[in-house]
Amino acid sequence: MARVLLLCCVSVAAAVPLSKQKTFGHSIKNGVLPANTEVTTFEHSCSAPPCVVTHVNVPSIYPKGGDVWNWTQGVVSFYVDGEKEPSISLTLLELAGEGHWNEAGTNEQSGDHMADGSPWGTGLMGRTAKSGAVYSTLRVPFGSSLRTAIRAPPSSTQDSVFWFVLRGLEGHVVRLGDLELPSAARLRLYRLPPTTLPQFQLIDLAKAPSGTSGALVRVHLDAKSDSFGFLEACMRFYPDGAKEPMFLSSGAEDYFLSASYFDEGMFKTSQAGLTYFNRSTNTIAAYKIHIEDPILYTDGMRIQFRNCEQTAGCGDESHCPNQFCTATQKALQVQQAVEQPSVKGANIAEYSTLVLAYEWPKAAATGERGDALSNLQRLVSEADLSQDLEDAATDLVLDGDAGAIALLSLPHHELAGPLAARVARQLRRYVAGVQGATLTQI
Ligand SMILES: *[C@@H]1O[C@H](CO)[C@@H](O)[C@H](O)[C@H]1NC(C)=O
Ligand SMILES: *[C@@H]1O[C@H](CO)[C@@H](O)[C@H](O)[C@H]1NC(C)=O
Repeated sequence: MARVLLLCCVSVAAAVPLSKQKTFGHSIKNGVLPANTEVTTFEHSCSAPPCVVTHVNVPSIYPKGGDVWNWTQGVVSFYVDGEKEPSISLTLLELAGEGHWNEAGTNEQSGDHMADGSPWGTGLMGRTAKSGAVYSTLRVPFGSSLRTAIRAPPSSTQDSVFWFVLRGLEGHVVRLGDLELPSAARLRLYRLPPTTLPQFQLIDLAKAPSGTSGALVRVHLDAKSDSFGFLEACMRFYPDGAKEPMFLSSGAEDYFLSASYFDEGMFKTSQAGLTYFNRSTNTIAAYKIHIEDPILYTDGMRIQFRNCEQTAGCGDESHCPNQFCTATQKALQVQQAVEQPSVKGANIAEYSTLVLAYEWPKAAATGERGDALSNLQRLVSEADLSQDLEDAATDLVLDGDAGAIALLSLPHHELAGPLAARVARQLRRYVAGVQGATLTQI
């Protein structure tokens, strides 16, 4: 029993140092927000990295002096680790996961008449009042310091009044669904401003240079066109310098987990949603969440979308596939007849997009191995490890074995005396288990 307990606590303590987790946060009521001015809403120094913002909500920004009530265009910014320019700056609508077509409510509107179908919300984000009530639990990691700020909508000429709430945890791992991200992971925002695209034009929504590892979190598309033909487009993904795309979807509404040009209208789930839909103007705003549906890259990436689509064969940059092909079939591929959507009008589209991803230097993953190796060397001297055990553990760490790295990820200075002896004992058991060997062999 005691043995099981120790194993549990050594590995859990290594991954999630519960004793170091600590809630931080702040709330502001009736905050004064002068026009064209950024007001700091919170600052925090991280004493047990990584620190993670876990919750933000903005009840509203109320105008004064006859200004229009455009809380939707208020901006929240996150300055991470001493940044001069914020790496994350989102309008309140974007924080909620909505497109820029949506508008603030008026006193005449009740929830049932809001153009975004609000109130709505998921575990990650939402908007629950016509006056705002925007919230987000999107994790914003930082390592040394954080400053958050709020800015009134550009239409404000007088002081506005704002409400703001933020919370987070110190000493917390950054999780993305099943994944535990390296402590160097930071939230990154790619923004495509409104861009006009002729029919069949390809467009990069995000591009991370080689040397960057990451995981997608949220992808947003605001689009309008003279027909819904643009919804034929398939989402393309080029991880790690790939020349040929991996197809993430079989169409635009398919990527956003709907079908047949969104024939059920607006919906919002934890996986995807349509937050604005106007059939008569062919205008949409949609989001896709990649938390339970991870999309990873280790050495840069590109996400590419298109206005309309051409479909044929095995698929390549210019064609969405209509079949699965083996590598041989792909090499021999002869382009078949190209299927095109029935064209009504010129099919000019306007897209604006946001891609949120966690990213870290490619070297960070190997950095964890470096820490584990240096801890292993300390164990060798502190706990008198056998040469065979040292060799076996070194090989496991170099192979990136998560269990061995977790056992060796205690703070270096703590690996002494009785704790070093206990970690050494657990390492011996673990290595023996992996090797299927008996304890006496190492
Ligand atoms: C402010 O609100 C008005 C009326 O709702 C709208 O017409 C205008 O476009 C908004 N301005 C901005 C900058 O969002
Ligand atoms: C769609 O847009 C048209 C034109 O702007 C507008 O008259 C109509 O009310 C909109 N419909 C919905 C459902 O928002």
